[in-house]
Amino acid sequence: SGEISLRDLAEPRFFGAAANTTFLFHDQNYTRLAETQFSIFTPENEMKWENIEPFPNVFNFTAADEIVRFSEFSHAKVRGHNFMWGNQLPPWVNDSLSATELDRVLKNHIDKIMNHYRGKLYAWDVINELISDTPNATFKDIIWTRKFGEEAMPKALVYARQADPQPRLYINDYGIEGINGKSNTLFEVVKSFKEDGILLDGIGFQCHLTLGQVPPDLQENLQRFADLDLDVAITELDINLRGPANDTALAQQAKDYEEIVNACVAVKRCVSVTVWGVSDDHSWIPHGEVLPWDGEKRPKPAFFAIAEAFGES
Ligand code: G3I
Repeated sequence: SGEISLRDLAEPRFFGAAANTTFLFHDQNYTRLAETQFSIFTPENEMKWENIEPFPNVFNFTAADEIVRFSEFSHAKVRGHNFMWGNQLPPWVNDSLSATELDRVLKNHIDKIMNHYRGKLYAWDVINELISDTPNATFKDIIWTRKFGEEAMPKALVYARQADPQPRLYINDYGIEGINGKSNTLFEVVKSFKEDGILLDGIGFQCHLTLGQVPPDLQENLQRFADLDLDVAITELDINLRGPANDTALAQQAKDYEEIVNACVAVKRCVSVTVWGVSDDHSWIPHGEVLPWDGEKRPKPAFFAIAEAFGES
C-alpha cells in the first residue's frame, strides 16, 4: 500500500532494486516507487562494459550517472554492476587481444570507472558469473578465464581495491543459493582467496528462482559464507511463475519471497535484498509477473510478504 515502505522496514538492511534509465524518468509510477521503496539500486545495464566503455578508452557515463544522481537524491546507495563478466561486452573486447593487452584494458576500465565514481558507490560486483555450472571445471570458459586462467578473479579484485579502497567488493553469481556443487566450488575459491590475502568483501546471491524452488538450505548457505568473514547479499531476486498468475501461484510466490527475506534477516552479515526490477511490466523476463509489484504498480501478495518478513507489525 501507499504507507508501507519496504526501505524503512528493512532497516538496518537495505532493500533494493535494479534501476533502469529506460523507465526511471519516463514512467511516473515507477519513479515514485523507486523513491519511496528502495534504499539501494543496481543499474540494470548502464554500467555494463558495452554501455560504459563502448570503444577503447571511450567512456559514456551518462546513463549510469543518472542512476547515481537519482540515488543521491533519494538517499539510496548504489551497487556497481559489473566489471568482469562474459556478457554485454563490446565487440572490441575479444580474443584477438593478447593477455597483456587484455590485462591493460581491464585495469584501465576499472581505474577510470572507479575514479569517476569515487566516494559515491557502496559496492561493486567486481566479478559476475564466472563459476562453472558443471562439476568438471571451476570457471566458465569465457574471455577472462581463457586469457588469465585462475588469475582472472584475483586480477579484477586487486585492480578494484587499488583503484578505490572504499567500495565493498563482491563476487556475484546465480545457482549458488543452496548448498550444491556450484556453491561448493565458489566456497573453495573464496576460501583460498582468504588464505592468500586477496581482499574480497562479499558474495552476491542472485536468486533468479522458479516458483516453489527456494532452496531449503539458503540460510545455512549464506551463513557459511558469512562465517568466512564476508558480507552476503541477495542481489537479483525474482520468482518466475512459469505459468498463469492465479491466486495459488501468487500466494506461493509471496511465500518464496518471504522465505528469502527471512533467510537474509536471520544472517547477521546479510546486508541487503535487491529485486531485479520494480514492477512486472518492466522485468527482464517478459510477461513473467516475477516481481512484488504488478504491471499497474499495485503491490502483490509478495510485497506484503516481504513487509512481514522485514518485521512489519
Ligand atoms: O540497448 C539495446 C537497444 O539499443 C536495442 O535497441 C535493444 C533491442 O533488443 O536492445 C537493447 O539492449 C538490451 C538490454 O537489455 C537493454 O534493454 C539487450 O538486447 C538485452 O539483452 C539486455 O538484457 C539484459 C541482460 O542482463 C543481458 O545480459 C537485461 O536487461 C538485464 O536484466 C540482465 O541482467 C542480468 C544481470 O546483469 C546478471 N545476472 C542475470 C541478469 C538477468 O539476465
